[in-house]
Amino acid sequence: MAVRLSDHVFAIPVVDRETDLFESLWPLDDGVNYNSYVVLGSDGAAIVDTVHESFFDEYLSALREVVDLESVKYVVINHMEPDHSSSLRDLLEYLPNARVVISKTGATLFNLPGDVLPVGDGDEVSLGDVTLRFIMTPWTHWPETMVTYVPQDGVAFTCDLFGAYGAYPDLKTDDWDGYLLEARRYYVTVLSKYSNFVNSATGKIRSLHPKILAPGHGVIYSGDSLNQILDLYDDWSSEHKEGRVLVLYGSMYGGVFSKVDALVAALEARGVVVDTLDMSREDWSYAMTFVLGADIVVVAYPTYDSHVFPPVRYFLETILDKGLLDGKPVFVLEAKAWSGAEQKIRAILGDRIVDYVSFSEKQPLGVDQIDAIAERIASYVYSDGS
Ligand SMILES: Cc1cc2nc3c(=O)[nH]c(=O)nc-3n(C[C@H](O)[C@H](O)[C@H](O)COP(=O)(O)O)c2cc1C
Ligand SMILES: [Fe+2]
Ligand SMILES: [Fe+2]
Repeated sequence: MAVRLSDHVFAIPVVDRETDLFESLWPLDDGVNYNSYVVLGSDGAAIVDTVHESFFDEYLSALREVVDLESVKYVVINHMEPDHSSSLRDLLEYLPNARVVISKTGATLFNLPGDVLPVGDGDEVSLGDVTLRFIMTPWTHWPETMVTYVPQDGVAFTCDLFGAYGAYPDLKTDDWDGYLLEARRYYVTVLSKYSNFVNSATGKIRSLHPKILAPGHGVIYSGDSLNQILDLYDDWSSEHKEGRVLVLYGSMYGGVFSKVDALVAALEARGVVVDTLDMSREDWSYAMTFVLGADIVVVAYPTYDSHVFPPVRYFLETILDKGLLDGKPVFVLEAKAWSGAEQKIRAILGDRIVDYVSFSEKQPLGVDQIDAIAERIASYVYSDGS
């Protein structure tokens, strides 16, 4: 179903409630939108981004409700990931007069069907009384990614930027807090690795003073919601901290868990806000939303086959790759029975480790030591804010 956004712009959202995992990684408990857009000018029309090809038939009939397909002069591909572009080939069969617009980087990296028009930063095409302006925002997921802007209506088509998981058939939400968690989960899973690029793209979009942000997933933003998502993106893509300590742990037989419990109590006694996540059971994407907001991360695990307990080890490697541990001091609490895994954890975390403590039956960790660790962590948290 098409939704009118402004004088010249319609949204064509398609809701995917079938896919269980986005990118075969991130759970879609409540689906995900693929939002395509149509711009209608006095001298032709444009389609901005498409949808996942599994929904092509539904997409085509929704497009036909708002646009005469012969009038389409351009199909803009802001981003080549298949969630946005995989309908292109089929779509072109129905668009006899359309050129495919993509960034110059995109045109060099991908084989595109049809008559391709590569564009650079600030380039424009005209549809008569409306213009499409192309803003290069490389690495706002992939190297070729760009934003398309319609200055006459103040609408920015931002693709993955400001996207969210979840199903929004009418491009709205009545649960803004729940929505922001899904936007945060989208940010940490898809964009956090490229935070520097996301930060500068957000600045570029802000300087356009848009009235409407129209992303490739999630809802349409305007007014307060627009200001809020821009502010959140500024925060998330800087070294973001929310005054919290996060304890990531694993435990097979409860030994580590009992020390985590004691440490959390000692931290809370000092007024520190603590989140704890059992990495054997926690979904990674939700866990990553907690890492984003942590000032300090405590990593606690049993040694397992001479290495860090796998659910902790692989999660750490992933969040390091995603840049989510940048600027965050890490405290390590390691349980062992014989040799431990100190070298392994140091190889993973490097100089992010401010404190490494190991314990075993022969070298138990007493209440006083736990208190001392809590004291060091608390002094980090409190020195940070002052
Ligand atoms: C499957 C398994 C593998 C282990 N591998 C090692 C090891 O390679 N090196 C070591 O020092 N301890 C090893 N341990 C001992 C544990 O790290 C130790 O008992 C720890 O205290 C267990 O913590 P938990 O009670 O929280 O599971 C292993 C234990 C298990 C059950
Ligand atoms: Fe993407
Ligand atoms: Fe996407």
